[in-house]
Amino acid sequence: HEIYFGGLSGVLPKYPVDFAGLEARAQAAMAPSLLKYVQGGCGDEFTQDSNASAFRHWGIVPRMMVDCSVRDLSVDLFGMTLPTPLFMAPIGVTGLCTQDGHGDIAAARAAALTGVPLTASTLSNDPMEDVAAAMGDTPGFFQLYTPKDKDLAESLVHRAEAAGYKAIIVTLDTWVTGWRPRDLNDSNFPQLRGHVLSNYWSDPRFRTMVGRPPEQDVRTGVMTWAGTFGKVLTWDDMPWLRSLTTLPIVLKGICHPDDARRAIDSGADAIYCSNHGGRQANGGIAAIDMLPDVVAAAGSTPVLFDSGVRSGSDVAKALALGATAVGVGRPYSYGLALGGAEGAAHVLRSLLAEADLLMAVDGYPTIAALREAGARRLP
Ligand code: FNR
Repeated sequence: HEIYFGGLSGVLPKYPVDFAGLEARAQAAMAPSLLKYVQGGCGDEFTQDSNASAFRHWGIVPRMMVDCSVRDLSVDLFGMTLPTPLFMAPIGVTGLCTQDGHGDIAAARAAALTGVPLTASTLSNDPMEDVAAAMGDTPGFFQLYTPKDKDLAESLVHRAEAAGYKAIIVTLDTWVTGWRPRDLNDSNFPQLRGHVLSNYWSDPRFRTMVGRPPEQDVRTGVMTWAGTFGKVLTWDDMPWLRSLTTLPIVLKGICHPDDARRAIDSGADAIYCSNHGGRQANGGIAAIDMLPDVVAAAGSTPVLFDSGVRSGSDVAKALALGATAVGVGRPYSYGLALGGAEGAAHVLRSLLAEADLLMAVDGYPTIAALREAGARRLP
């Protein structure tokens, strides 16, 4: 209401309400190397571009004469009822997105302001305990990059449990970092200096492994990351992952229906259909185009989705195609860069407001109704 009626009555929003406007504003505001890191993808960014453009060949058919005066956008996930179907995807080094270096805390405060869960990355700049504390009553998820050292994996997961995170999201597609020309051509990240990835650098197990306080520079940061993480996970590791926690385990990066089936058979509690926003492998098919097959294979198992969501209508399309919850990455990062917690909250609220309005106009009072109707693929 605030954004919509404000806009209609000539009260300009503090930040743009659409992705193109947001990105343009962020482009002008962010330091060049930070912008490259956030905005960039793999190779010539075919997959990243396809992720967003593929939403244009899916459409929702409107229904009329349905009472949509009240909409219910809540979803059930991991035994909780969440007020909205949106969540913030994990973004490593989010700290840099705000001037004070505490972007993770700002994102957590945006979660507290909106009720939209945040997924804290293994590579958060602030310790996951501080990030969780800033979320207030809004639930959060912890994203695990699996370390080669099993004790470190155990330590990170147990810290996440103790901090109150509600699920462990294991990222499968990043045991090596993708071919990202924007970063490779200019990996000088001056603003990274002094911004320690303290979530894992302060981990008690990690500190016993390195034996001394790590140096706070980019090269050490990158090389330490590469040496510490990058365990090559296979299906044989599922019993071990399962043994680490009683929290729901979500496998992130699944785009093939056979992998979805295998994940569920191996004990995963949810599937996360994503291609990392096109940052890990170029040449891949848009994630939204694989979502229907993954949803069909998953059956009653929840399917989280991200990659290319840029608007409320994209959110609605992903839900219509069967996603249980929909994640965004770059959009809220730009919000953080423009206005910290308030900026990120504005981005999330704009996405939700547009999705809600679409459901109102198109005759879908609930997400279940939207899902039942589905989306049509355009010729
Ligand atoms: C990411 N992503 C990511 N994923 C993950 O599992 N752990 C991480 O630490 C990161 N870090 C990260 C940094 C940056 C700058 C970006 C843009 C993305 C991927 C992220 O979780 C998500 O899959 C994509 O961002 C979704 O695509 P969109 O919404 O950015 O198009």
